[in-house]
Amino acid sequence: MIKVLSVFGTRPEAIKMCPLVKEMEGCSEIESIVCITAQHRQMLDQVLEVFEIKPDYDLNVMSDCQTLFDITAKVICGLKEVIEKSRPDIILVHGDTTTSFAAALAAFYCKVPVGHVEAGLRTYDKYSPFPEEMNRTLTGDIAELHFSPTEQNKENLLKENISRNIFVTGNTVIDAFKTTVKKNYQFENEELNQLPFAEKQFVLMTAHRRENLGKPLENICNAVLELAGKYSNLHFVYPVHLNPAVRETVFRILGNKKNISLIDPISVTDMHNMMARSFLVMTDSGGLQEEAPYFGIPVLVLRTETERPEAVEMGTVRVVGIEKDDIVAAARTLIDNPGEYDKMAKAVNPYGDGHASERIISAILERAKEEK
Ligand code: UD1
Ligand code: UDP
Repeated sequence: MIKVLSVFGTRPEAIKMCPLVKEMEGCSEIESIVCITAQHRQMLDQVLEVFEIKPDYDLNVMSDCQTLFDITAKVICGLKEVIEKSRPDIILVHGDTTTSFAAALAAFYCKVPVGHVEAGLRTYDKYSPFPEEMNRTLTGDIAELHFSPTEQNKENLLKENISRNIFVTGNTVIDAFKTTVKKNYQFENEELNQLPFAEKQFVLMTAHRRENLGKPLENICNAVLELAGKYSNLHFVYPVHLNPAVRETVFRILGNKKNISLIDPISVTDMHNMMARSFLVMTDSGGLQEEAPYFGIPVLVLRTETERPEAVEMGTVRVVGIEKDDIVAAARTLIDNPGEYDKMAKAVNPYGDGHASERIISAILERAKEEK
């Protein structure tokens, strides 16, 4: 038996690690242990509930308005004890959060090999996204096994002279759809059930990134305000991140507007099924850029760059920046020109076939056999 400790702490890591944890639970050659850092509390628990995962360890690190210093220090110290107690053969971390990097560093200090899920995404700008670009680069340096969603991600690692143990697996977010996407779905959130689906077209949006806090987020909100005013046939649905710095700006600018629903974060099942019914996605999230192409929904990325160029190349995702007029112009192009919209609305999914978790497990088992 190989003992695998999976560590994650935020909503997006959980959405992408839970399908893998489920798959490992069904594998007779693996003993799966889960440690959550709870860098996010409510938004993480929502996901664990959907996938029915009960963690073995919970570091419970979240505090209101936490800093990168708080998270990093608490995760490293908390994990020391968990690793010493559980003595795993390998530790899996995901992506680019501060939980991921701190967990990889703690594993390194304990000389336990790290498997990096969603490895090799890069913008090559260390401050954008901040601190994620550096988190994933440093995690890549520490990791022994690299599970890259796409060939392009693998190429990025090769350029950094990481040449061993890179496995192109697809993204586990596609695996998650097996659990979340349902026909004739009834939303858990009553506000979503009440939306006028027959009469309006829906723009699903999220924005929360650290580098967008302040003026960029104000620009984004003002762009939405202008679009909602111009187009009464559109309805904006914005599940607002629980970060107080995000909520202050969003509710101040967009609160109590007729065709804008500001709601609390929704469950991942509600999210994926809402996405399937939307006309357009506007977001600064990484995960939404991977999910919407699967449904053939165009995405306008509210950032100046992306580490997910595959969907841009396929034509379903456009990076539009963080200036109000640019965002309004890009959205209007799609709303006013059915031809332009149709060009983007293609169900192309560059992120795999829903079997990424199986490939990751095979690679872990293969490597364990080689080591014996
Ligand atoms: C974190 C990740 C980011 C990821 C994002 C996904 C880092 C540095 N950032 O950023 O990469 O894209 O998660 O959402 O790792 N809060 C709650 N309840 C929750 C979650 C958050 O109240 O369930 C509030 C807390 O006040 C917390 C704040 O949000 O202090 C910010 O959370 P934090 O994890 O520090 O940053 P995110 O912006 O969520
Ligand atoms: N998501 C969710 N509920 C919400 C908003 C987002 O379940 O209210 C999901 C979304 O479908 C995606 C993930 O959360 O899978 C993205 O998380 P987030 O935007 O917080 O982080 P990022 O992907 O930018 O790291």
